[in-house]
Amino acid sequence: MMRRVRKAIFPVGGLGTRFLPATKAMPKEMLPVVDKPLIQYAVEEARAAGIEEFIFVTGRGKTTIEDHFDHSYELEHTLEARGKTAELEALRAWLPPAGDVAYTRQQVPLGLGHAVWCARDLVGDEPFAVLLADDLILSKTPALKQMCDIYPEVRGNMVAVMDVPKAHTQRYGILSPGRDDGRLVQVRGLVEKPKAEEAPSTLAVIGRYILEPAVFAHLDKKSKGAGGEIQLTDSLVPMIGTSPFHGYRFEGQRFDCGDKIGFFEAQIAFALARADLGPAAQAVIKRYT
Ligand code: G1P
Repeated sequence: MMRRVRKAIFPVGGLGTRFLPATKAMPKEMLPVVDKPLIQYAVEEARAAGIEEFIFVTGRGKTTIEDHFDHSYELEHTLEARGKTAELEALRAWLPPAGDVAYTRQQVPLGLGHAVWCARDLVGDEPFAVLLADDLILSKTPALKQMCDIYPEVRGNMVAVMDVPKAHTQRYGILSPGRDDGRLVQVRGLVEKPKAEEAPSTLAVIGRYILEPAVFAHLDKKSKGAGGEIQLTDSLVPMIGTSPFHGYRFEGQRFDCGDKIGFFEAQIAFALARADLGPAAQAVIKRYT
């Protein structure tokens, strides 16, 4: 029986040290690109892909994320009293229905693999998605939807991939590619953050995954990898050859919003892409170039 991908994990427990001082008292996932927090882009993308259950793996200091996905009675009441119905409807439109959101705390930031492992009981025995909010993707079809659309044909594990400069392999999980039809790439091997001279290719994992629940058994071992962290990538390696495993070259432009310049570029690209702001943004940019 074909199992649809219904659940998504959002690991949001990271400290955001690359973005200090902005992230001292505010979760990095709440940083806005134009007028929307990074985490909301990720949740909307998941929703567009048919996800019905949203599982946040949080940590201390992240309660504004929970507040963001809840009603704000005072605000809604004020908008209503002032007759701002469009704003009110817009605010309510993207709120996940009650009971569709779950939160669990990572307690100690031991790595991405550990964050995903923390959600094991909430996921149970079915395939699930993982979205990393600081990988922001501008595309015609939301990136996770592209993956969910092709998933029934391939099943198994699937990770979003893109080519990166050779000098940047140390920032990513890197594939050892097999058969490659330009869109789907067979995964022969996977290594987390290899040095340029040791990288098997320049094909990097980007923060969108569809994974088999069998990954939890590997994460259970809690082996430490690159940077002394429990890496999601390492737990996927023993699954190569046991079930299908593909990299998916998504259509769209990805911005590394965990990086200052990447985040800055995302502001420009997303503002330019907006029908309501594009021309004004263009005029501003012209003044500086
Ligand atoms: C994580 C993953 C890495 C992946 C990257 C994509 O790394 O561990 O495999 O390539 O996300 O953004 P992080 O950026 O959390 O160090």
